[in-house]
Amino acid sequence: MKRTPKRLDHPAISYFIGLMVILIMLTVLGGMIYHFAFSSQGPGLLMPLVNKYNEKHTSTILKSAQLHQESEIHEHFHQFVDYQEAPEALRPVCYICHSNLPHSKNKQIRAMLNIHTEFFMCETCHLKNEAGIPIEYKWYNPLEATPQGPFFGTAYDPGTGELSMVDDHISRIAPYFRKGAALESTLHMQNAPLARDYLEVRDRLTPEQRASVTKKFHININPKGPECHTCHSSKSILDFKKLGFSPKRTTDIEHLNIVGLITKYNEFYLPDLFKQQENNRTEDQGRP
Ligand code: HEC
Ligand code: HEC
Ligand code: HEC
Repeated sequence: MKRTPKRLDHPAISYFIGLMVILIMLTVLGGMIYHFAFSSQGPGLLMPLVNKYNEKHTSTILKSAQLHQESEIHEHFHQFVDYQEAPEALRPVCYICHSNLPHSKNKQIRAMLNIHTEFFMCETCHLKNEAGIPIEYKWYNPLEATPQGPFFGTAYDPGTGELSMVDDHISRIAPYFRKGAALESTLHMQNAPLARDYLEVRDRLTPEQRASVTKKFHININPKGPECHTCHSSKSILDFKKLGFSPKRTTDIEHLNIVGLITKYNEFYLPDLFKQQENNRTEDQGRP
């Protein structure tokens, strides 16, 4: 029995045409798959899968930063809303480089420190008063010479028992130098010459230059803040009555159970914190 041999001598052109047909079919097929699976104009059958894949591959750094921020906002004792802000030029210089959540180093207390930026200027805790000038604390609002309040967190709403709602979210307690009859501000705003200068040139500075400017902004700034009981005790440096706090709110702030609060976050022995601060302070002195 003799099999008819397969014909192998097609002209080259027919291979070429065959190849083109296959390519066209593949292109059409590909287009159809794309349309049904992924295209924004089609039903997007496979989009959920794609999204899942992307989710897994976003930057872990970005994600952990997001998580960190979310948890800080979560640990916040008040609802965190986007408060109105003072116009840029009238904001404190600190906010050029720091945020409303400036504390990050000490996990046990950072969230609790950060809530204080809602009602304090940084200087209330960080002012370095080497000359020992008497200090007086007052509500400060860049838009009003003598803000009247009611101020944030100073009283409870008798109906709900929660802190009263207020309209003024710009005013914050700030330290003033008492000089005779006059009060002198200790604050520096972004419209101050050094800040304006810095904002103009910062992109052109070398890291060294930047560090030296940073130092200038920190001249009167204490790297650490006061201990909690400087304010949370009956010997508070703040005159709560004069600052407009209601008697009930004052009692609660003065008798806040700090140690209880902190140990709730972690096994944490309070005096250790301040021993650690002392150590840091000695290290700081060794820095250039
Ligand atoms: C030009 C940017 C800039 C400005 C403005 C600025 N800071 Fe800083 N600050 C930094 C940087 C960067 C660091 C961390 C590096 C360092 O230790 O110097 C820092 C660190 C700090 C520290 C911790 C210091 C330490 O030694 O651990 C405190 C407290 C502080 N800033 C408070 C303030 C306050 C309050 C203001 C406003 C009066 C302010 N900063 C303005 C950039 C700035
Ligand atoms: C209630 C007081 C208080 C206020 C208000 C406050 N701080 Fe602090 N800050 C502290 C204390 C206390 C420390 C030291 C924390 C520690 O020992 O870990 C500190 C440390 C810091 C540090 C270095 C350590 C860290 O956690 O990163 C920076 C930076 C800082 N403060 C910036 C600011 C800025 C900027 C503001 C204003 C937006 C501000 N602080 C307002 C009390 C305060
Ligand atoms: C410079 C004074 C000052 C220092 C220092 C200070 N606090 Fe406060 N803190 C206050 C004032 C005032 C309030 C209430 C403000 C308001 O509600 O308007 C407050 C509120 C709080 C609250 C919210 C309490 C509530 O009932 O809503 C916590 C928590 C807190 N502080 C913890 C701490 C811890 C922890 C430290 C030390 C690491 C500390 N504070 C240091 C003045 C201070």
